[in-house]
Amino acid sequence: DFHIGTAVAGGGHHVDQPYPDPFFNDEEYRYVLAKEFNSLSPENQAKWEFIHPEQDVYNFEAMDAIAKFAKRNRQEVRGHTLFWHSQNPAWLEQGNFSKEELRAILKDHIQTVVGRYKGQVYQWDVANEIFTDGPNPVLRTGPTAQGGNIWLRELGPEIIADAFRWAHEADPEATLMFNDYGVENINPKSTAYYNLIQELLAQGVPVDGFAIQGHLSTRFGFPGGLQENLQRFSDLGLETAITEIDVRMDVPVGQQPTAEQETRQASDYDRALEACLAVEGCNSFTVWGATDKYSWVPVFFSGEGFATVMTDDFDRKPAYFQMRDSL
Ligand code: XIL
Repeated sequence: DFHIGTAVAGGGHHVDQPYPDPFFNDEEYRYVLAKEFNSLSPENQAKWEFIHPEQDVYNFEAMDAIAKFAKRNRQEVRGHTLFWHSQNPAWLEQGNFSKEELRAILKDHIQTVVGRYKGQVYQWDVANEIFTDGPNPVLRTGPTAQGGNIWLRELGPEIIADAFRWAHEADPEATLMFNDYGVENINPKSTAYYNLIQELLAQGVPVDGFAIQGHLSTRFGFPGGLQENLQRFSDLGLETAITEIDVRMDVPVGQQPTAEQETRQASDYDRALEACLAVEGCNSFTVWGATDKYSWVPVFFSGEGFATVMTDDFDRKPAYFQMRDSL
């Protein structure tokens, strides 16, 4: 029952994708996706800006293709994501909508997208990255330019419960989750989720799980409290997941990682996998990119890279073998 997943690169026009859409064009990549994984996550293809590019236009082409590919290869799909501050279309962020209109827009989007993939998507990241960073995390109610979430700002925190309820109505079987980065350990941000989720559960809101992205770096060291943290969510009766793990490293331009960096990376990946395997209800472990060839890391973190388990040429790295041996 355990899901080993990867993000499926693509989504079209984004700045970090100067190459033709890998999912539709790279045969070797498609082969690796089908062979090595039993769960696929759309890296961008189900985000608002891709799947809902104009107010009255949905674009299901890429997500449909992923769902079809998954079915054909007996894989499952993770949904990502319905409620986020980032990668929203301009029509939404710059539109001049009343509260009632925004509520209706969100409801329609959630029910349309979740409903379309009913029975095919086993977990949805309903709400993504809703808390701010730092020692005192709060819900992201600020301006969009400062990382604010349009739904939280315009509609208030109660909209979170509605988002989960609408998703549940559209697919009662899907596991509905919160997802965030920087929540590997027991820390203020993960505790903010722990508290919020308990409040929502007490109100009968259909929250099923807590997901940890897991964007790690060999520079920072492994978040040693991961298992304990997963366990406390599991103890609430929730499912947990690692949804976007990668382990990046600092490598000067034109150079390759050292053997020590690769060993360290392998250990970090494997410790995360083992933590998940050790906790009841952690049934899904997804790497954010199968190969360095299409990793988002070098684009977003300058001077860093080599964060996935396969090289540009699909050579398996120590991280791949170490995790394989743990399964
Ligand atoms: C990233 C993708 O990998 C990039 O291709 C895209 O340009 C930006 O978003 N947290 C998330 C993911 O929840 O959706 C992000 O994915 C990485 C951080």
